[in-house]
Amino acid sequence: MNRSPAAVIVRALLEAGEAFVSGAELARELGTSRVTVWQHMERLRDQGFEFEAVRSRGYRLVAKPATLNALLIEARLPAPGCRVIVLDTIDSTNDEAMRLLTEGEPAPFVVIARQQTKGRGRLGRPWLSAPNGNLYLSFGLRPAVSPAEMPMITPWIGVNLSELLVRYARVASQIKWPNDLQIGERKLGGILTEARLDADLIRDLVIGCGLNLRTPPEGWPDDLADKVTALDAHTGQPVDANHFAAAVIGRVLTAYDGLRRGQHHTRLEALWREHDALRDREITLLHGRAPVRGRAVGIDRDGSLLLQRDGAAQPEHFRAGEVTLAHR
Ligand code: BTN
Repeated sequence: MNRSPAAVIVRALLEAGEAFVSGAELARELGTSRVTVWQHMERLRDQGFEFEAVRSRGYRLVAKPATLNALLIEARLPAPGCRVIVLDTIDSTNDEAMRLLTEGEPAPFVVIARQQTKGRGRLGRPWLSAPNGNLYLSFGLRPAVSPAEMPMITPWIGVNLSELLVRYARVASQIKWPNDLQIGERKLGGILTEARLDADLIRDLVIGCGLNLRTPPEGWPDDLADKVTALDAHTGQPVDANHFAAAVIGRVLTAYDGLRRGQHHTRLEALWREHDALRDREITLLHGRAPVRGRAVGIDRDGSLLLQRDGAAQPEHFRAGEVTLAHR
């Protein structure tokens, strides 16, 4: 899949920055006429793009849409080939991505919503998804890999996102097993992976990510105030949601490519070690039966948590559960 003509135009204008891009140049790049380019520009204006147009020099971008915009994101993706769908409101981007996979939408694609009415977290918990500038996005994928890979997907995406956050925003991002993105001990985001399996294949895969970009102007609700954080509290300036969304999509697609080539088998443990929020911490793990107490010592190649209990010779492996920290 190539970039759409409108995304090609937006990309050229973004790359040019303050400079003008000639209509003839855009027409040549698209293999179309200058009139068609002009028609695209008019439609872009309807979306909130503003241009300065000078007859002998061409077009210059002077304003961009203020909210999440599919073209601004698609234009910034390092490579074409992933459809970007931006919706104003949806029940859950994970549900919408699964519905689109069922209907046969070509994968990969990504569904982003400005707000969700039934955003979900792990263990069926609600995920607050107000239209407040945070990111709610889900990837629709058809990996055709073995279901045995399933437990590794969330940790693999998690460490990749954590690394992206370190590079993109220079924050000390960490991952708390199995799916929480954290800065310090506060939650910045989470990942919810869902799949439809055939007997020996993951047929439809949805990877949903919720990321807090913006501290609410009125502050966090009392019950969350000491538990959550947003990226802007650490960068000291507003985060451009379109720019960041493109970086997230680029990184997740690269990680997904790596997953299909089996890269996670060799790289997950080492990457996890670098980003592990629980490393050597005393924790309590709830996993259905009685709580288990011990020291977190990493994860294994399958993404299971390794818990070292006092006096035990070897750490135990846990595939699922809910971790709480024993405070120092
Ligand atoms: C968690 O930490 O429990 C996972 C949270 C995942 C939330 C995201 S927001 C986008 C996508 N749509 C959903 O309904 N959930 C995920």
